[in-house]
Amino acid sequence: MMDTNTYEPHFLLHSWLRDRDDYFLSTNAGATEIPFQRWKSFKEAFAPEFVANAVAETSKALGRRVESCIDPFGGSGTSALTCQFLNVFPITIEVNPYLADLIEAKLASYNSDALMKSVSRVFPKREPAGRRPTVSAFSSAPPTFLEPGVNGRYLFSRSVAGRIAQLRDRILALKDDDSRRLLRVLLTSNVVAHSNAIISGKGRRYRKNWQERKVSPQDLDSNFSQMITNAAYDIRRYAHRPMKDYRLVRGDARNISKYVRRTVDMAVFSPPYPNSFDYTDVYNIELWAGGYLSSSTDNRTLRMSTLRSHVQIKRDYSHPPLASSMLNKTLKQLNEVRDALWNKSIPEMVSAYFADMDKVIGGLARVLTNRGRIYMAVGDSRYAGVDIRVSKILTELAYRYNLQLVSETPFRSMRSSPQQGGQLELAETQLVLEKL
Ligand SMILES: C[S@@+](CC[C@H](N)C(=O)[O-])C[C@H]1O[C@@H](n2cnc3c(N)ncnc32)[C@H](O)[C@@H]1O
Repeated sequence: MMDTNTYEPHFLLHSWLRDRDDYFLSTNAGATEIPFQRWKSFKEAFAPEFVANAVAETSKALGRRVESCIDPFGGSGTSALTCQFLNVFPITIEVNPYLADLIEAKLASYNSDALMKSVSRVFPKREPAGRRPTVSAFSSAPPTFLEPGVNGRYLFSRSVAGRIAQLRDRILALKDDDSRRLLRVLLTSNVVAHSNAIISGKGRRYRKNWQERKVSPQDLDSNFSQMITNAAYDIRRYAHRPMKDYRLVRGDARNISKYVRRTVDMAVFSPPYPNSFDYTDVYNIELWAGGYLSSSTDNRTLRMSTLRSHVQIKRDYSHPPLASSMLNKTLKQLNEVRDALWNKSIPEMVSAYFADMDKVIGGLARVLTNRGRIYMAVGDSRYAGVDIRVSKILTELAYRYNLQLVSETPFRSMRSSPQQGGQLELAETQLVLEKL
């Protein structure tokens, strides 16, 4: 009998996903119900089932079980975590330090005594007398971070920010690496709910009537405690996943060949889309609140290391020539409508986006085993009526690396994509390539 990864190599996978049938492969719909995924509602995540299907299909194509899988754009860690349930060794790259911690917090194994001890240090039975929370930890954050803010607008009241800083200091002083990372991630994931902003597919905005909304440090504490309880349950319940190992690279996916020297059976990922969505912006509150950024230079450095899929900062868009006639046609069309574009650098950004993706795909082709596969969830974009047909362009670019098209399938759900800021009709596609 062929030793392949079927969809159900382990009963824990069923229990984790609850055999749900109301999911959409390309979205995180229903993720708040799923253990681990509920630690942070990550709008741009795909469903674990997307990964499970990709592993099962690759296993069939290889005629053996899949042993390793790489995700160069880790996000909230869906691929790596699903791989652990499927007994596949996961390699993940993520450039955003908060998200990298979120991924590792899900993948790590825990010592429950050490975790309980750490929690009791963060929430001592009696608060030490005379130590008042201070907000000085946020002195380098953008001026709107803290009350009084700018023109009367701010994200956190001084009392809530003070409590975040106090909890964070206690967490950062913990000795056990795994509990320190986990508690930092859970605190960080909890802060937006206690801010005056909400994050949607369209980015960040102030809540309606936020001035009347009362949020207290006690609210923060009680949500944080609940999150710790939930996370501790998830960790214990699924501690016996068949794969406990993982490799997390905290770095830039464009340098895959530098980080990964071994052969990998498959890749599964969803890259940023060329839709000017900047992850550093969208997760900026978390990055500052969790202490992942401590100066505006840190913020800029992080933006510069992300894929060139946005125009938020001035950066070099130059790149070597690319082999895609569809891209050349698209760039010509974009140049023709340049005056109508909301940002004049969009044609260069789109071009640089594909140069970056070309580098990632080239890097993956180098580490992929023969007949190994790449599964991508990609989304089209549109600027001034010009469609950016992402899957078509990537397919053309991939030929150069001996990657042939297996299938290009629109996702079943054509609902608006969160990555696309809620616009309807833009196609999201599952693109499958195989190494010849
Ligand atoms: C669409 S999200 C991935 C979501 C993921 N599939 C999930 O289910 O959670 C894309 C991710 O790519 C990351 N990213 C952007 N530029 C990157 C780069 N140059 N190297 C590595 N990761 C990058 C972003 O921080 C973001 O987390």
